[in-house]
Amino acid sequence: MKMKKEIENKRVSEVLTPHAVEALLAWYREHRRALPWRETRDPYRIWISEIMLQQTRVEAVKPYYARFLAAAPTPAALASLDEAALFKLWEGLGYYSRAKNLHRAAVAVTEQYGGEMPRTYEELRALAGVGDYTAGAIASIAYDVRVPAVDGNVLRVLSRLCASGADILDEKTKKRFREELLPVIPAAAGDFTQSLIELGATLCGPNTEAQCERCPLADVCEAHRTGLTGELPVRRAKKPRRVEARTVLLVRDGARTLLSKRPPKGLLAGLYELPNVEGHLDTDGVIAFVRALGAEPLRVRRIEDAKHIFSHIEWHMIAYDVTLSSDFDGLRGDGRYFLAENSAISEHYAIPSAFGAYTKYL
Ligand code: ADE
Repeated sequence: MKMKKEIENKRVSEVLTPHAVEALLAWYREHRRALPWRETRDPYRIWISEIMLQQTRVEAVKPYYARFLAAAPTPAALASLDEAALFKLWEGLGYYSRAKNLHRAAVAVTEQYGGEMPRTYEELRALAGVGDYTAGAIASIAYDVRVPAVDGNVLRVLSRLCASGADILDEKTKKRFREELLPVIPAAAGDFTQSLIELGATLCGPNTEAQCERCPLADVCEAHRTGLTGELPVRRAKKPRRVEARTVLLVRDGARTLLSKRPPKGLLAGLYELPNVEGHLDTDGVIAFVRALGAEPLRVRRIEDAKHIFSHIEWHMIAYDVTLSSDFDGLRGDGRYFLAENSAISEHYAIPSAFGAYTKYL
């Protein structure tokens, strides 16, 4: 009986020979996309770009990157921003803990390093929000330090190059690829890091068919040779997200809208939001909620439904537009709720994009 041939999983150094690395660098230098963070070797700018690019598409990052650096061009300038201004700059990017960690790290850079970004992988790795990938990306791209930077793009490329069936969500797989990559990193470490990212973001992408006919590594790629490109990389199924029913309230009196500040811990911590409660309230429930705050609704109107997907939770929202009488002032409750001038909402209060379907009414 003919046995199905077991796929040989190659090591990174067997595939990425010095010759293959040269071909990859030459391809990158000729074909790389012109991106704003590729016009600089400033470690601060590279750091900001790498944090923004986590979980966010390149095209979405571009305007945020420019605006953020105009407002906070140095670690010291970032350290001196207050939280409201910082969140306003981040508004719509999501995963706000990234912004909080950037701020904490900028304070550390200012206090411990006199405002200059540190130069070693270990010092960078110790900053808030900087993991193995980000430390490797900053050190290699800004300073050509020969350290690996293995993100989702790079994991996909390496899994295919080596025909590795290891689960790429497993920390052990990432660690093994980092270790195997280390000895093949050339002197041009920054271009090497970016070339692997670029290959994974373009020709060796996740959703579209891999464009192997244009790939500089096609003739050394094990997945290409064995016809496995479409099967790799392997990733275990993620846990399904928890679905939460919520009711969002747009409570306003003309010039002002009711906001609340989220608690300092947990989902969207410290951000402002439209008042919302768990479950789907009916009109009577909405009236009772508004009266409990000491206000009297004149009119309650159901508006559109919306859905928002966070990494672990999915909000299924219904919403009501509630009009208050304009002579209303003073709120009861725990002090979390307040009426904000509509003009101040666009200038000062960052409201997460989970509420995007409703903030457009303001
Ligand atoms: N994704 C993560 N880092 C990146 C970079 N430096 N350029 C393009 N896409 C990226």
